[in-house]
Amino acid sequence: MTASSSDAAFPAARPRRLRRGRALRRLVAETAVRPENLILPMFVKEGLTEPVPISSMPGQVQHTKESLRKAAAEAAEAGVGGLMLFGIPEHKDTTGTQADDPNGVVQDALRDLSAEVGDDIVLMADLCLCEYTDHGHCGPLQVDGHVDNDLTLERYASIAAAQADAGAAVVAPSGMMDGQVAAIRAGLDRAGHTQVPVLAYAAKYSSVFYGPFREAAEGAPQSGDRSGYQQDPANAREALREVALDVAEGADMVMVKPGLAYLDVVAKVADTSPVPVSAYQVSGEYAMIEAAAERGWLERDQAIVEVLTSYRRAGAEQILTYWATEAARLLR
Ligand code: PBG
Repeated sequence: MTASSSDAAFPAARPRRLRRGRALRRLVAETAVRPENLILPMFVKEGLTEPVPISSMPGQVQHTKESLRKAAAEAAEAGVGGLMLFGIPEHKDTTGTQADDPNGVVQDALRDLSAEVGDDIVLMADLCLCEYTDHGHCGPLQVDGHVDNDLTLERYASIAAAQADAGAAVVAPSGMMDGQVAAIRAGLDRAGHTQVPVLAYAAKYSSVFYGPFREAAEGAPQSGDRSGYQQDPANAREALREVALDVAEGADMVMVKPGLAYLDVVAKVADTSPVPVSAYQVSGEYAMIEAAAERGWLERDQAIVEVLTSYRRAGAEQILTYWATEAARLLR
């Protein structure tokens, strides 16, 4: 008697057939991470003479103007698609006046980088006030201690115009104020920047995984937290509403943040979003893998590629990651 696939001794289906050997696995892979879809977040600090290592993010630094230029060129060279700039000003105040000063730290860096790498990589500017206010909240405060939403919108519109004037190819509001995308779109249009897209941090959760970033950007709230404006981790439906509002207000791209603990949200947003969907692999995610790898508990490079692949699989088209330059090299 000859064996057939209906023979009870043999499994009818053998998914393992397509897993035999690297070439076959590569042939049938559904997802791939491409360097050009990665965005590197970078910190530049005013008045620095040497780059300052960020202890909770081994391998990351607060850049000087010079070291920023060099790292940006390396990212471009590696094929990374975009840079997301964060600035740390020398002087902070209640309304964050340095954020829209034409000579503010990010505007200065943008002018530098536009000349250097502006044609090879997309220059994006994070648009928020927490690094610029002395109280560390994402907008000016009311007497009751809450962020004044509508006053903050005016500030954001002005920052957007200053960033675009300085050479930002994309502005990325991360403050989670209601109406921020519409206010920024109007601010850009009035300033003649009708072609500058808005990448909205649309579904941004109030997350403990931003911990190391607050050391990096020196923007920790001096009192309270951000749960009065950022989303509650318990809610997914709310993310879809935030995305729909941002798209209606004119967002050209939307982002979910953080990514790893919110891949379900990424997947839901990717299912329905009419615009490209990005996700941010935040500082705490970076720190966890770096710390485990340092102890020899995880194989670092494989962990990086696996997690980035999972972001893609969930539906993120662009991924913000502190490993962008390194990952781009690993993926080539
Ligand atoms: C500022 C901002 C934060 C991050 C990006 N933009 C911090 C926060 O909202 O507290 C976090 C990035 C990271 O953790 O890598 N609004």
